Amino acid sequence: MLPARPGAPGTPLPRTAHCVLVTRTGTGDAIVEWYAGAARDLPWRRPGVDAWAVLVSEVMLQQTPVARVEPVWRRWLERWPTPADLAAATPADVIRAWDKLGYPRRALRLREAAVAVVEQHGGVVPADVTDLEALPGVGTYTARAVACFGHGTAQPVVDTNVRRVVARLVHGRAEAGNAQAADLHDISALAPADPERAVRFSVAVMELGALVCVAGTPRCGVCPVRDRCAWQLAGCPPYDGPPRRVQKFTGTDRQVRGRLLDVLRAAHAPVGPGDLEAAWDDAVQRSRCLDSLLVDGLVEQTADGLFTLPES
Ligand code: ADE
Repeated sequence: MLPARPGAPGTPLPRTAHCVLVTRTGTGDAIVEWYAGAARDLPWRRPGVDAWAVLVSEVMLQQTPVARVEPVWRRWLERWPTPADLAAATPADVIRAWDKLGYPRRALRLREAAVAVVEQHGGVVPADVTDLEALPGVGTYTARAVACFGHGTAQPVVDTNVRRVVARLVHGRAEAGNAQAADLHDISALAPADPERAVRFSVAVMELGALVCVAGTPRCGVCPVRDRCAWQLAGCPPYDGPPRRVQKFTGTDRQVRGRLLDVLRAAHAPVGPGDLEAAWDDAVQRSRCLDSLLVDGLVEQTADGLFTLPES
């Protein structure tokens, strides 16, 4: 039998061949053009949204879906339109305003970032990636997203969705592995050379991963780069990595911490252990979660043994 032709459905291409196929001219441009017609109209993408508003959106979007972020983001910026406004708020204020976005330590870090912007950058969100990465709660992804979407400087911006696009389009794999420095290089290689177009490409490829090249069953029929996708050319091989953990919520400490914080958010004065009992039946888990909230600085104990959100 003759060896299968490289690129025939079901035959994996050598890794180098994948890279040659997808980095030839036009892949980034095709994604940018698709975005022009398919992008969601999200408020933080509109013209005139400043780097502070982008930073707030990116921190909120790190672990929370767009639909839940949108109303909280709007209220947040009405109340704290500049870093200086947020820097003057109390931790209790920001924990309340964070509402039910989850992972509330992000709210405390965002306030600390606002303080650092005021103290170290004159109240102006920096544009330099290294300066951004030095802010509390700002990592590789968020720093580049703010530099790119908030300041308009071309940057490789790699979130989970983008890593999945790269895994398929460039490497012919069904799903991405762990985050790696190579992801930044891979996505830079696809970006158009023109800096303004490269900025659009960064958001466009995120959108492609969010709407089309999704986990599970991708919508390849509407993909603008299907004809040059290494995963398609390899015959769509299934995921063959280790089993992935499905994040559950019900019954986890995360749920219990959320319930305890709900009680404290709603309270107008410090509450006693009895008030917290109604939040969760299991006393051992309740106490463990309360301890962890105290350690994280999300809850404070008063001198008389009551619990409250931190006022300073
Ligand atoms: N646009 C810019 N950044 C985004 C994000 N993190 N999620 C969704 N849309 C975005």
